[in-house]
Amino acid sequence: MRNSEIAISLLKVTKFYNKLQALDNVSFEVKRGDFFAFLGPNGAGKTTTINCLTGLSNHQSGEIKVFGYDATRDYVQSRRLIGLCAQEFNFDPFLTIHQLLVYQAGYFGILPMEASRRADALLARFQLTEKRNCKHRALSGGMKKRLLLCRALIHDPEILILDEPTAGCDLELKFLIWDYLAQLNKEGKTIFLTTHNMEEAEKLCKTIGIINHGKIVRIGDKKTVLQDKSLEAVFLEVTGAE
Ligand SMILES: Nc1ncnc2c1ncn2[C@@H]1O[C@H](COP(=O)(O)OP(=O)(O)OP(=O)(O)O)[C@@H](O)[C@H]1O
Ligand SMILES: [Mg+2]
Repeated sequence: MRNSEIAISLLKVTKFYNKLQALDNVSFEVKRGDFFAFLGPNGAGKTTTINCLTGLSNHQSGEIKVFGYDATRDYVQSRRLIGLCAQEFNFDPFLTIHQLLVYQAGYFGILPMEASRRADALLARFQLTEKRNCKHRALSGGMKKRLLLCRALIHDPEILILDEPTAGCDLELKFLIWDYLAQLNKEGKTIFLTTHNMEEAEKLCKTIGIINHGKIVRIGDKKTVLQDKSLEAVFLEVTGAE
């Protein structure tokens, strides 16, 4: 199943929060090795899609597969293939950032010595070494963003899912993250990213999917989607432009 050329597939996925329909028959595929930008205005359904994909939320109908593994039935296999960088910070307040990464690695069966080595390498890569023994409370917002990325990468997943990874980052950090993501994609990782930053989507991604009011309104290669004049109203909402 791991040989599947389709990294992520959703087929007619529907999700309700009580009476609110957050996802309405969502169907799309992300190919292995793609850099996929998932765009849409606030409340469009991007995070809900990610939550269903990663098993954090249950969908009511439809099918979600990760390299052929059903995201619900084969949860352990599918979740192992994903590194998730969530939209919000959700760190254990009692652990140092190094411990936090080692614990996360433990969920994926990585032994403590190897986990510690990986944690130190990632902390160095994201310029967090001097905060190694601090709790996450002692980190600035941009540092916490970098820690989210370290945690997503600790088990070296095939797919990286990033929910607004550069929101609130300064320019230098944004460029650091962009370079690193481009490099990871070059090395073969499949990347699924949501953003409200059109420059980010334009610079990094190969494919764009657009969701609005829980429905997919367009999927295609970057150039074709960005040239589609009929999507101007949605793009204005995505970027918050007047
Ligand atoms: N846990 C929840 N309970 C109830 N409603 C929810 C919940 N999570 C999301 N929603 C609703 O589902 C809809 C989609 O929300 P979602 O978080 O997926 O949007 P989004 O596209 O990620 O937006 P943003 O760009 O603001 O992050 C919204 O109407 C939101 O209010
Ligand atoms: Mg969101």
